[in-house]
Amino acid sequence: MSDKNLLSLAKEAMKNAYCPYSQFSVGAALLCEDGRVYTGCNVENSSFPLCNCAERTAFFKAVSDGEKRFRKIAVVGGKNGKAKGFCYPCGACRQVMSEFCKEEFELIFEDEEGGVEIHTLGEMLPKSFTLGE
Ligand code: THU
Repeated sequence: MSDKNLLSLAKEAMKNAYCPYSQFSVGAALLCEDGRVYTGCNVENSSFPLCNCAERTAFFKAVSDGEKRFRKIAVVGGKNGKAKGFCYPCGACRQVMSEFCKEEFELIFEDEEGGVEIHTLGEMLPKSFTLGE
């Protein structure tokens, strides 16, 4: 699966975003070691703290299906259903990624002009929390 294809799946997932409160749609596509892809979108709630981000939706779908080994994730997002800028994951999502992924795990982003950025989890969440065991 190429990065471009993974980004296309993230853009497709973004269409399913349920975001009546923020109007900010996010889509993610998570590539597993075995080649499977799990997509996710953000799912908001009138009780605002219950909103779930697209990245965590994708991770939780994958883990609940028995997947625990991941290669990379593509993320796109923006207001009113249109990708704008690079949509970097929030801190909570980075921490969830660090539970399952090593520092080399790649995050792929695309802006509205087709520009692509790739960062490792190590770059995006340096010195992450561990129980030190
Ligand atoms: N959101 C994500 O889906 N991923 C992130 O990493 C940050 C934010 C969503 C949550 C909420 O539905 C909307 O974007 C605005 O915060």
